[in-house]
Amino acid sequence: MAALAVVTLTSTSCGGIGQASTVRQASVRSEDPVATVAPTWIRGLRVVRDNGKEESCAWSTTYPQIPSAQPLTDALRRLVEERRAAFLQWARESGCGEQAGKAPELNMGFGFVAASGDVIGVRFTVYQLGGAGDGKSTTSLWYDGVKGQVVPALSLIDAASMNAFEELTGKALEGIDRQAWLADRSARTLDDLAFTKDGDLVVTFDEGEVAAGAVGQAQAVLPRAEVEPLLSDFGRRARAQVMRPADRMALPGYTADGSVDCRQVKCVALTFDDGPSPYTPRLLQYLARYRARATFFVVGQNVIARPGVVRGAVRAGHEVGNHSWSHRDLTGLSARGVRADLARTDQAIRKATGVTPTLVRPPYGAFDRVVRRQSPHPLVLWSVDTLDWLYRNSGHVTRAAVGPARPGSIILFHDIRPTTVAAIPHVLKRLAKRGFHFVTVSELYGGHPPALAIHGPSPRHP
Ligand code: NI
Repeated sequence: MAALAVVTLTSTSCGGIGQASTVRQASVRSEDPVATVAPTWIRGLRVVRDNGKEESCAWSTTYPQIPSAQPLTDALRRLVEERRAAFLQWARESGCGEQAGKAPELNMGFGFVAASGDVIGVRFTVYQLGGAGDGKSTTSLWYDGVKGQVVPALSLIDAASMNAFEELTGKALEGIDRQAWLADRSARTLDDLAFTKDGDLVVTFDEGEVAAGAVGQAQAVLPRAEVEPLLSDFGRRARAQVMRPADRMALPGYTADGSVDCRQVKCVALTFDDGPSPYTPRLLQYLARYRARATFFVVGQNVIARPGVVRGAVRAGHEVGNHSWSHRDLTGLSARGVRADLARTDQAIRKATGVTPTLVRPPYGAFDRVVRRQSPHPLVLWSVDTLDWLYRNSGHVTRAAVGPARPGSIILFHDIRPTTVAAIPHVLKRLAKRGFHFVTVSELYGGHPPALAIHGPSPRHP
């Protein structure tokens, strides 16, 4: 039988989240054995940071927004808000008095303990000085992408094996405080279970939960071979993603190639017409911050003027569509004229980017039977018009985009307006908060836009 190891994690003194830990039995320094992973495969991930002061109590909280796992995002937000509210209430009622010579504070940070395939694990580390919950604690929430449900840490263990699991954990605690473990079952939360890279299961206790009087958090490391028969199906899937992560997410909303499936999650297509312009590079920076993809309907003669900007947009994953050579109303041209105008523009885009566009947006949204017939690509109109060329005011543009946005909306902007570009960070922030993914027009239709696109599909269960 492999040896069971117990370590305690100590928190650093100055209110930061402690990294240092000691192995009590061997009295050498060691890292938290829980594996953390980079959420590389999560699309549209946002981190919400907040901080402030109540009386003289400082607080800061951080949690992730994961659009493809909305129930998880909701649970994480609730967890943060409840903890913060309790701390602030205590701060108000107590006047935020000093605790052992230190100013009270609350810090909540998080890391991913799994983020691939159909499993996400998020682990919060809370450092609180003052009030109920004083000390350092951790909580892990798991997300079962197959069921689309947030599950508590203990769901890694098979329900029928719960007694065996408790026994194994108690054995691991022998060196620390087995008596406390056996004596007060009701006091344990068992709300932080996660894996090491080698597949051992780590049970982390809040400060003072076991090993009363010891400084730091106790952790029981249950060896892989012994915990294996006790894991639930979900626990096995979670462990597999920690040990051998898939190279993509497999949640509802993600397709096989890792792009977003807008029939399963909320999407909007932001579209920018008439550029590229001197303001387009800044717009690309804003979009990159939100990992948002957009569609640029460019004018051929502007492409000739700024080929590098269009190339940059394509490299960043955006779609570039054809908005005619010189922005003439195509319904005023002959059939041959329409064909020539669009072909010339396609060619300029191909020359600049190496990619031939597959979409046309007719200038002014004006088209007739001739334009439809002569266009080599589907025509894309829009379902939300910001009228940003008329109201050159960022606040107005933001409201005009965000208010009417629905799953499947195609939103019309013009990146030749600085007021429009200045509005985009606000548009992205507010739509992201509502759980929208930002996709290209082609992506909105799963790669197959109809001959006339106005509004994209919306998920059956948004
Ligand atoms: Ni236009």
